[in-house]
Amino acid sequence: MAKLIYSAITSLDGYIEDEDGNFDWDAPDEEVHAFVNHLERSVGTYLYGRRMYETMVYWETAHVLPDEPPVFRDYTEIWQAAEKLVYSKSLETVSSDRTRIERDFDPDAVRELKASAVRDISVGGPDLAAHAIKAGLVDEFQFFVSPIVVGGGKPSLPSNARFKLELIDERRFGNGVVYTRYRV
Ligand SMILES: NC(=O)c1ccc[n+]([C@@H]2O[C@H](COP(=O)([O-])OP(=O)(O)OC[C@H]3O[C@@H](n4cnc5c(N)ncnc54)[C@H](OP(=O)(O)O)[C@@H]3O)[C@@H](O)[C@H]2O)c1
Repeated sequence: MAKLIYSAITSLDGYIEDEDGNFDWDAPDEEVHAFVNHLERSVGTYLYGRRMYETMVYWETAHVLPDEPPVFRDYTEIWQAAEKLVYSKSLETVSSDRTRIERDFDPDAVRELKASAVRDISVGGPDLAAHAIKAGLVDEFQFFVSPIVVGGGKPSLPSNARFKLELIDERRFGNGVVYTRYRV
């Protein structure tokens, strides 16, 4: 059975983007990105909210950019090889391979996917992940917390969820980012 993992890169106060919609303050450097690549090699399917997909689809063509460091090229290959399900009522087409649109988040369908998948499943961004969290489908949380307070914006976690977690891994990086991994 595959795990469903919610990963987020956040500020210390728990936001994935600030009130202006910016998140350039938490862009992973090469060291963090190499570790993200290591984690994401186990992911076979990404469940994306439409907004997260619109950001991540950059990786479909990132390999054509000159002078990309190897760590970014590696991530491009990881992303392109994975299956993607994009949840959206508004999106008409997708611009990446191995991608299909889902009009509704059906917890039973995700449960079945977890039961049949050989490799792990990742869910993001926070709006979509909230559905999975509230349905009790998320098995692990992975947070990359950046050393910055932004004061407001889009929280990484829904406000009305409550559950206990077991810390199963942690790591610190040279740029001050701290990674924590929790099992539900
Ligand atoms: N912190 C970081 O490093 C980082 C990295 C990448 C991206 N981001 C940013 O994080 C943000 C994404 O998070 P988000 O929480 O705002 O959005 P999101 O969860 O990625 O996407 C929200 C959209 O997903 C669709 N959706 C959500 N629930 C659905 C459901 N039950 N059924 C069908 N469709 C559903 C809807 O699309 P429709 O409106 O089309 O129906 C909804 O507007 C983006 O701004 C992204 O740029 C941050």
